[in-house]
Order: sequence, then structure tokens, then C-alpha cells
Amino acid sequence: MAATTAIARGLEDVIFTESSLCFIDGEQGRLYYAGYKIQDLAEHSTFEEVTYLLLHGRLPSKAELKAFSAKLASLRALPPSVIKQIKQFPRNAHPMSMLRTAVSELGMVDETEADVSPEALYEKSLSLIAKFATIVAATKRHREGQKILAPRKGLSHAANFLYMSNGRVPSKEETKLMDVALILQAEHGFNASTFTAIATYSTQTDIYSAIVAAVGALKGPRHGGANEAVMKMIAEIGAPENVSSWLAELQAKKGRVMGMGHRVYKSYDPRAGVLDKYAALVAAKHGHSKEYAILKELERQAGAIYNPKGIYPNVDFYSGVVYSDLGYSLEFFTPIFAVARISGWCAHILEYTKTDNRLLRPDSHYTGKLDLPYIPLSKR
Ligand code: ACO
Repeated sequence: MAATTAIARGLEDVIFTESSLCFIDGEQGRLYYAGYKIQDLAEHSTFEEVTYLLLHGRLPSKAELKAFSAKLASLRALPPSVIKQIKQFPRNAHPMSMLRTAVSELGMVDETEADVSPEALYEKSLSLIAKFATIVAATKRHREGQKILAPRKGLSHAANFLYMSNGRVPSKEETKLMDVALILQAEHGFNASTFTAIATYSTQTDIYSAIVAAVGALKGPRHGGANEAVMKMIAEIGAPENVSSWLAELQAKKGRVMGMGHRVYKSYDPRAGVLDKYAALVAAKHGHSKEYAILKELERQAGAIYNPKGIYPNVDFYSGVVYSDLGYSLEFFTPIFAVARISGWCAHILEYTKTDNRLLRPDSHYTGKLDLPYIPLSKR
């Protein structure tokens, strides 16, 4: 690589491929999946329908959605060896580590693991999408010392995830809330975990290895972990009337408001707008109103300071309130993100194999020395 070539640190603004899966307009705060506004999908769609859209590039007909949903349902159950393995995980391990290990086991017990034909890749994608919810629910039950539950017939993906997690069939309202949460997180262009999945898969390894790598990338607090930090921040503030003094202290130490700001969005993250609406409903009905009231006050006061700099609430600002209302503790916020994002990862892998399918191999400027004399170990 010529030393004059500019370095794109953090790969910011580097375009390495084409994609028709996701359009993000960070200036105007717009997000589209395969041409459809995120607000429309969140309001009218289900996780199954959005997954079909991402994998096929178009919305399904009624019959196609029925067949697709039935296929996903048929793939939900985990192989016995994976369940056995989950039961042996240390109970206090992070559920993202549990997920990472369980996906690796899934690959090992798939006798066709190395089949990278388009048909096999599609089938394995559906299997992973179906099983992610089952794995995360099983790790939740295991950590809580509860019996691991098998998927239940007749429930949608979101309802099944809640059923297997909490041990009871959820209400329609809870199912809608989970569907919205999963839809909003299903896809977001070439973020770090999706890029990791593509970079890994570009070596023509198996899809399980690519997804294990993506789970590892999502686990990091710069990527999937900010919603946990928001809940800790709410606890620290304690009450809406403390927002002003808390903010003054934060500014004095040049801290950051968790759940605000985004590398791409320089206006209101449209996903935060959708979640705010649902968080308000949850707060009104289920008594999480104190947490919600703190966030609204924080949004108002922090907004006055930071909005002029292009810093607005992002998707993580309100998601924690919603997830905790659905029965999940802090450590499960990132795994829920993974249950959603597995659709985006698989859709991108499928798309990349049909477009470039080139090995990803960037370069660096070499800044070391050359032609150093080799001194034998005995003389060093
Ligand atoms: N609160 C206060 N100030 C902020 C915030 C914030 N949440 N975010 C950015 N800023 C300020 C920075 O201090 C910096 O100010 P300076 O120029 O005076 O030093 C300026 O804005 C630019 O900050 P960068 O970190 O360079 O901007 P970047 O675009 O890389 O930041 C990021 C994006 C990392 C998300 C940042 O906004 C942040 O740390 N937010 C809080 C954590 C968070 O919510 N992360 C979740 C992101 S969404 C997701 O991953 C699903």
C-alpha cells in the first residue's frame, strides 16, 4: 500500500460493498429496511415478517408468511447436546458468553456444517434465527435456577421467546412490545457485529463461525451494551427532581449521558421515537413510571444542552425500560439485541455471497523497521 494513501481510522466512511437491506439517513433521522420505513414496520409488522423481508428483499404474501412462520417454528427446538451444555454453564457467566458458546456447539453438532451452498446457507440461517431466541431464553432460565422450557406450539416468535424466558404465555400487549423491540434492532447496516460476520464469512468458513464472531463483537459495551448503562444511570439519578443537579455534575466532569448520541444519527434516532411511544404505554400501565419520568426529564434538560451539537436520544435510551418491564434483568439486554440482530447478520451474509463474495483484507501503513541484523539468542 502506498504510504500516501490516506488512513481511514475506524474505517469511518469507507464503502466496501453495495447493499439493498438498510438505508440510514443520519442527518434527517430516517431508517428503512429494504425500502420500508422503520415506523411502519414497527407498527404493523411482526418479527417473522421483517425477517422474511430482510432475507428475501420483499414483503411476503399471506401464504408465504404462514409457511415461513411455520418453518421457523419447526426449527426452534435445540439439539439435546446444546441443552445439556447450557445446563453445565456456570450460572454467573454472562449470557452473551453463554450464547457465543452455544452457537459454537450448534455448529459442531450440525453434520453439514461445512456446506456453503446457497440452499444450505439459507436453511442454516433460518435455523439460527429460530434458535437464538430459544438459546437466550434457556440461558435466562438456567441463570435463574429454573427449568429450561421447550418451545410451545401455536405461539409467534416474540410470544415464544417471552414464554420460554418467563414460563407463562404472554399477553397480546407484551407480545407486541417484544415484536417492536425485535423489529427495531433486527438490522442497522454495517455496524461492528455485522461487519465482523461478513469479514469472517468472506474467508468461506461456515456460517456458525461467522455468527460466533458477530456475537463476540456485539458483546462489547461500545456496541451492544449501552442500554445496560442507561438503567444504571437512571438508578444513579434516582428521581426526576435530581436531573438538574446530576446533569450539572456530569457536565463538570465532562461525562456522557448514556443512551444519547450516535456515530451516524445527528438528529433523533427514529428507533428511539418508536420506543418512547411504547415505553410511555408501559410506564402508564405497569408502574415503571418513575424510570420513565426520569428519562423524559433527562431528555428535556440534556436535550437543551446537547441537541444543538447533534446529540439526541438513541435506541438505547428507552429500550431498557421496555426490556425490564418484559421480565429481563440488565445482563439480558444485549442478548435480546442478538435475538433480533441475528436476522440482519444472516441477511447480510446471504446478500454478500450473491454480490461481491470477496475475501475482506484491508491494509495498513507499515511504521516498523526493516533489515535489522539478526542477533542469536545466546548473544542477546
Ligand atoms: N453525552 C454528552 N456528550 C456527548 C455524548 C453524550 N451521550 N455523545 C457525544 N458527546 C460529545 C463528546 O463528548 C464530544 O464532545 P467534544 O467534541 O467536546 O469532545 C462530541 O460529542 C463528539 O463525541 P464522539 O465520541 O467523538 O462522537 P461519536 O459520534 O463517535 O459518538 C457515541 C458516538 C460513542 C455513541 C457517543 O455519542 C456516546 O458515547 N454516547 C453514549 C453511549 C451510548 O449511548 N451508546 C449507544 C450508541 S447506539 C448503539 O450502539 C445501538
